[in-house]
Amino acid sequence: MKKLLIVLLLTSSVLGFAQNLISNVPNRNTTSLNGIWNYIIDPYQTGFYSFHLDQYDKQEKLAKGAFFNNYHAQNKQELVEYDFDKSPTINIPGDWNSQVPELKYYEGNVWFKKSFDYNLVSKKRLFLYLGAINYKADVYLNGKKLGTHEGGFTPFNYEVTSIVQPKGNYLVIKVDNTRHKEDVPTLNTDWWNYGGITRDVTLIEEESSFVEDYTIQLKKGNANVISGFIKINNLDASQNNVSISIPELKINFKGKVGDNGILSFEIPAKKISLWSPENPKLYDVLIDFNGQKIKDTIGFRTIETKEDKILLNGKPIFLRGISIHEENAKGGRANSQEDALRLLNWAKELGCNFVRLAHYPHNENIIREADKMGLMVWEEIPVYWTVEFTNKNTYQNSQDQLTAAITRDKNRASIIIWSMANETPISDARNEFIKKLVDHTKSLDNTRLISAALLTQSDSAGFGTINDAIGDYLDIISFNQYLGWYGGKLEDAEKILWKTKYNKPVIVSEFGGDAKAGFHGEKNERWTEEYQEYLYIQNLKMIEKIPHLSGTSPWILVDFRSPKRLLPGIQDGYNRKGLISNDGEKKKAFYIMQNWYAKMKKEY
Ligand code: GCU
Repeated sequence: MKKLLIVLLLTSSVLGFAQNLISNVPNRNTTSLNGIWNYIIDPYQTGFYSFHLDQYDKQEKLAKGAFFNNYHAQNKQELVEYDFDKSPTINIPGDWNSQVPELKYYEGNVWFKKSFDYNLVSKKRLFLYLGAINYKADVYLNGKKLGTHEGGFTPFNYEVTSIVQPKGNYLVIKVDNTRHKEDVPTLNTDWWNYGGITRDVTLIEEESSFVEDYTIQLKKGNANVISGFIKINNLDASQNNVSISIPELKINFKGKVGDNGILSFEIPAKKISLWSPENPKLYDVLIDFNGQKIKDTIGFRTIETKEDKILLNGKPIFLRGISIHEENAKGGRANSQEDALRLLNWAKELGCNFVRLAHYPHNENIIREADKMGLMVWEEIPVYWTVEFTNKNTYQNSQDQLTAAITRDKNRASIIIWSMANETPISDARNEFIKKLVDHTKSLDNTRLISAALLTQSDSAGFGTINDAIGDYLDIISFNQYLGWYGGKLEDAEKILWKTKYNKPVIVSEFGGDAKAGFHGEKNERWTEEYQEYLYIQNLKMIEKIPHLSGTSPWILVDFRSPKRLLPGIQDGYNRKGLISNDGEKKKAFYIMQNWYAKMKKEY
């Protein structure tokens, strides 16, 4: 009996609560758990293991020392060596590095606790949705383990119907942002390892049978057919009617969900006002499932390549882009609508119609704001530099992150490119790894373009060739090059000719150089604004001549934190390649880029 009990405990604790990702959370019946949480810094994982390293949540007996039990001494004699309610507090969502000075560089374990009441009426179901936690999370509700999640930039959720109680719920999450070589990203990155519950924490209340996920987009290559699927969680066969209405298009489609819980559809649609940067038209869409209504705002557009051109709604476009890291004005993780508007308004001011959200899926706010503002988006997963391409768990982690990103964002017209990787070293294992990710992406979404930011091969001048086998799998050949910063001479720029064997659209997904805002000198003095300005002038002369050029996304919009950037008085823990400083000052190179985009806009 005992063994069975343990098996049941383990099963329920790990498998019983995990839940396929619920999409379109902002438009559901939700309760936010954002706000003030208590936290305990636990570098030795004292709240997770006994002194002999027995893992508390793998034992059936109540362990008072296990922090997820949120235990309080019952009398004056009892020994309990922690107390969430007397511990310091922190704002959630938000990383700990920028909120708690002594945690600026901390990599390790921190526990978080939020108490809440919730009156769940009978027959309703309740889900806990976590927008992102970096890097690894062990999640508990009322002392029961909901599960463990790895990956710092994608959402996940658990069903908590059977655990939540009307009063005194305690949600406890252990967050570990320690880096490991087998993780995604791996040990080495050029960005700050912000730890914590960095995006929204939300409770979602649903009926017993509900719309879990759906795709409503234009059919691949067809601007007159809206196609996709509706996926029902826990279908009751007697209640399988679904309707999709788009009033402005006079669409009121009705269908029945199959026994598998899925309704696939193709709906003829006339005179759609297609989404574009010039016309970011979003339609009100209403799904009605047995009287349950879920709204969304969805844009419809086609995106494809033809030879070496990118076609948006059938017309060639040039992607006037900029790369962006997910950082807010306070030197921490961005997550809010306000943070998104600050970054995207600067991109608009630069003259952009495109943003490369590097190097990981950003929060849902910035994607939905890009939809509204008419900015096309490159979204990528952090398969960055030297992830372990021969490690099956590393691949599965990468694929899971890609699945979550696509599930969350596949109805956003602004997203035109899914990117598989950034600057990964060429090897057979890496090529196979990326090919599998490409095939997986296409199995989930065959409507968007696929790319990856490649490294270039050096020729005599150290620049000029893009010859990477995974180019066969990509729709767009993107590459990063740093003429005048990591090599080459700016004076040679106009002589350098680029060549590629692919007759595919090319994006220069990174170029640039550092400048400390306000540091002025001669244009040959590194770190000055004048050097960065001259670097942009010369690079653009070279880039203009690249065959099949269809876009650029210079590195980078804003200076950002990096533990690798250590030059005192200049970097001080910041990568200074921003066209704008982390204090919001525009550097001279900003205007070089702005003028070039104004010119490119006229030419296209
Ligand atoms: C690399 C990398 C970036 C990095 C940048 C730099 O190409 O993709 O993540 O920050 O170059 O060195 O500044």
